[in-house]
Amino acid sequence: MAEFRLPKNSRIEKNGTIHKAEGATSVKKFKVYRYNPDSGRNPHFDTFEIDTEACGPMVLDALIKMKSEQDSTLTFRRSCREGICGSCSMNMNGKNGLACTTAIEDLKGDITITPLPHMEVIKDLVPDFTHFYAQYASIEPWLKTKTTTPSGKERLQSPEEREKLDGLYECILCACCSTSCPSYWWNSDKFLGPAILLQAYRWLADSRDEYTGERLDELEDPFRLYRCHTIMNCANACPKGLSPARAIAEIKKLEAERQV
Ligand code: SF4
Ligand code: F3S
Ligand code: FES
Repeated sequence: MAEFRLPKNSRIEKNGTIHKAEGATSVKKFKVYRYNPDSGRNPHFDTFEIDTEACGPMVLDALIKMKSEQDSTLTFRRSCREGICGSCSMNMNGKNGLACTTAIEDLKGDITITPLPHMEVIKDLVPDFTHFYAQYASIEPWLKTKTTTPSGKERLQSPEEREKLDGLYECILCACCSTSCPSYWWNSDKFLGPAILLQAYRWLADSRDEYTGERLDELEDPFRLYRCHTIMNCANACPKGLSPARAIAEIKKLEAERQV
């Protein structure tokens, strides 16, 4: 399913600014979503022409070039430039991904960049993650124990127990998966969404955690967990190659097993 959905506060104006790349021999056009709540203006797309001969290879390089050379007011998040911090997640030509690990040459034709779909936008490409982080906090994403740690010792895991966290601990909370999920678009007030459910499973799968029952109680809810209808967009959207859908299936399995 195409993921191109505009952010929530979008009534697009047609007359955006065109920033030319004068004298460039190899030009790529970027149509970038612009929104500044202080301007009183509706959202619109500005066009930036980029000389690809004078730009790094990634979409984030192009955004940094636009901001440095053409319009310093262009606003986006970024930090690591290595696909590790998760802050440069956005929608590029209809697909969610990380701007720092998406190569310009892999995107055909003009490149349209919008914020992550179906989120409130703070400014330009910056979505409001307040609710997403509150949902993350709600699953209590830390090791919870009832027994005391043997004095002077760590809580150990066997290599096999540690392996169960592979495919989970790598999540960088970029929200590419949750904002590609139609169930999350329509029910994000109550449905936790694929990113947070993958994180919830990360603690259920941890052999050291002693709150499995309580965590399953919290998740057992028609909205929080069961609004996942196995649409699978989340697995296709993850830039780290993780499968939130599989983690959600594992949670549902644990819920079912304790019924018998
Ligand atoms: Fe991002 Fe993947 Fe984690 Fe979802 S599962 S938040 S897409 S890293
Ligand atoms: Fe959504 Fe993924 Fe489930 S796209 S419906 S969370 S399988
Ligand atoms: Fe950190 Fe892209 S800048 S993931």
